[in-house]
Amino acid sequence: MEMFSLKGRVALVTGASRGLGFAMARALGQAGAFVLVNGRDPATLEAAAARLAGEGIGAGIAPFDVADPTGREAGMAAAIAARGRLDILVGNAGVQHRAPLADWRREDFGRVVEANLTACFFLAQAAAPAMRANGYGRMIFTTSITGIIGRETIHAYVASKTGLAGLTRSLAAELGRDAITCNSIAPGYFKTEMNERLLADQAFVDKINARVALRRWAEPAELGGAAVFLASPAGGYVTGHQLVVDGGLTSTLTM
Ligand SMILES: NC(=O)c1ccc[n+]([C@@H]2O[C@H](COP(=O)([O-])OP(=O)(O)OC[C@H]3O[C@@H](n4cnc5c(N)ncnc54)[C@H](OP(=O)(O)O)[C@@H]3O)[C@@H](O)[C@H]2O)c1
Repeated sequence: MEMFSLKGRVALVTGASRGLGFAMARALGQAGAFVLVNGRDPATLEAAAARLAGEGIGAGIAPFDVADPTGREAGMAAAIAARGRLDILVGNAGVQHRAPLADWRREDFGRVVEANLTACFFLAQAAAPAMRANGYGRMIFTTSITGIIGRETIHAYVASKTGLAGLTRSLAAELGRDAITCNSIAPGYFKTEMNERLLADQAFVDKINARVALRRWAEPAELGGAAVFLASPAGGYVTGHQLVVDGGLTSTLTM
């Protein structure tokens, strides 16, 4: 057994048209998996899959909106049918909303929770039978360090990511008997489009650099190793865990 090999495995990564999802899809592909990249726009996904194929990675697209129940159900069925199996699910698609407490509306809160938390539950429900049939299953959810520590203005995001860490554990408890592991990855500050506004503010960038033990923001590719570890035989006895990849932000007090 090659410890980190994903040869013969099929992975679906949601929110993989760019950012952390694309980086994790690429890493899983480099380890040998066939990767299905998900997002809402087929054209963007075709471009992402072509980029991966150009690197020698087997890739296909799985376009659907994870927050739309009907589209999600049909999209998951199509994704599983595409290669006749599903071994790895990376529930990564996520959205953000920032506002002072008084300005939050019910629909803002609901939209974030639906995409970041509720969608992952139903993705897992749809993926479990296929994984059970394979005798091999890996569910990986992208949480956040805000699944551990709070931050002002992003209330629904913090609530959804904390909830997703809990969902990871309840799924692990139920699916372990079927040889399916469920873990989450909690990234710190990565240079992606989601953080575009923060990255444009040099004072904020510097503040994070000072607060992180490694004294810098992360590149998206730096999340790939964690995903490969949890998806591969190497991570076979790890379940219910939240793997923090934050340069030491939550484990150290730097000043
Ligand atoms: N960047 C960070 O520092 C950081 C830190 C902690 C946690 N995270 C988490 O990591 C994940 C990825 O973040 P990122 O920084 O890579 O974000 P990003 O650059 O904004 O990318 C988000 C991805 O999700 C897709 N997406 C958004 N809503 C979707 C939906 N309803 N259905 C399907 N796909 C959807 C987007 O594609 P389309 O728009 O084309 O649909 C895109 O591929 C998120 O869950 C985020 O909360 C990020």
